[in-house]
Amino acid sequence: MLQKISIQQLTLGMYVEKIETEIPQTKVIKPGFIRRPEVIEKLMHSGVKSIWIDTTRHLESGMAQHQQSLYRGKYASLGADIDKARELIDISKQQITRLFNDIYANKPIEIEPLEKLGLSIVENIFERQHAVAWLSGIRDKSAYLMEHSLNVAFLLVNFGKYLGFDRKTLQELAIGGLVHDVGKVLVSDEVLHKPGKLTPEEFDHMKLHQVFSQPVLDSIPDLSQVARDVSLMHHEKLDGNGYPKGLKGKQIHTIGRMSSIVDIYDALTADRCYKKAMSPSEAFKVMMSLTPYHLDPKLLRSFIQCIGFYPIGSLIELADGRVGLVWKENLDDFSRPVVKLFYSVKSGRFRDVQYIDLKKRQDLRIARATNEAVLGICVDAFR
Ligand SMILES: [Fe+2]
Repeated sequence: MLQKISIQQLTLGMYVEKIETEIPQTKVIKPGFIRRPEVIEKLMHSGVKSIWIDTTRHLESGMAQHQQSLYRGKYASLGADIDKARELIDISKQQITRLFNDIYANKPIEIEPLEKLGLSIVENIFERQHAVAWLSGIRDKSAYLMEHSLNVAFLLVNFGKYLGFDRKTLQELAIGGLVHDVGKVLVSDEVLHKPGKLTPEEFDHMKLHQVFSQPVLDSIPDLSQVARDVSLMHHEKLDGNGYPKGLKGKQIHTIGRMSSIVDIYDALTADRCYKKAMSPSEAFKVMMSLTPYHLDPKLLRSFIQCIGFYPIGSLIELADGRVGLVWKENLDDFSRPVVKLFYSVKSGRFRDVQYIDLKKRQDLRIARATNEAVLGICVDAFR
């Protein structure tokens, strides 16, 4: 996947596809990895402003390479898992896009492809939860509805697995996540893609997506009650002020309550053109403020424990100013994950990639969860 970054963001190990410069005679000889610091300096002095890098390729350098090799033995399966998780995500995106197109074209929706995809999501989350969590954190801003539907499916399966649900129910939860917002396909594009806050009238129109969802769900043969509840209850609130039915208290059972939590969490942690993504801990704070009138406090606490304050793929800042991504959880101590460090807030510069197991480095401490907006950097290349 190609991504444009500024020359200041270019670091050792990145794969450069092409450069952009105002000086016409400056050319990249051929695409390749940045193996030596002199190359970056040369590009800077040549007036290069922007670089197109392939975010799927990264060469670890120097010390980082040594550390990477140490970790490689320990986490040998991660590379293969990531490949399989990527395959799942690609296939899922294609199928959701097809589903949305069929709804828009008023074509009949079959349950079998949804069941297969739901099963595949459950299997992948059981077999390679880390890799799925890692990759699903990389979003394509231009396809929000599709990404959101897929993430809600992943999150619901994770949450249900944490709560001890059986695999059949988890599969139904996955299908529920995939179809939970199908009515939005029929909402006016102007409102759906508005880059900002909706007016009260526009919000009323947006709420109609729940009305539009009902006949679509009714038309899918053998859609389970669990999947229907995910879709039709994710905007209900415990105090009865939600929609479409204004259900109250016990009328909204566990599946509906879980769906509201997951839907809000994914929306808050998503990067949109009009707002920056919140870190998981910031989102949890906002969500706690929505209890007990909107969200179920006990279930929300379980969800927070399930996701963790430092989920895989989230950005953290250490007390010494080094910044990186949470790379792997330590199952017996979620507060001290393995981190992949590559930036320093002190120098304001990217640095050699370094992997550190915080459980073995008790002298180091996570100061805070952070995000790209706060730091003013893009970290996609390190995912
Ligand atoms: Fe919705």
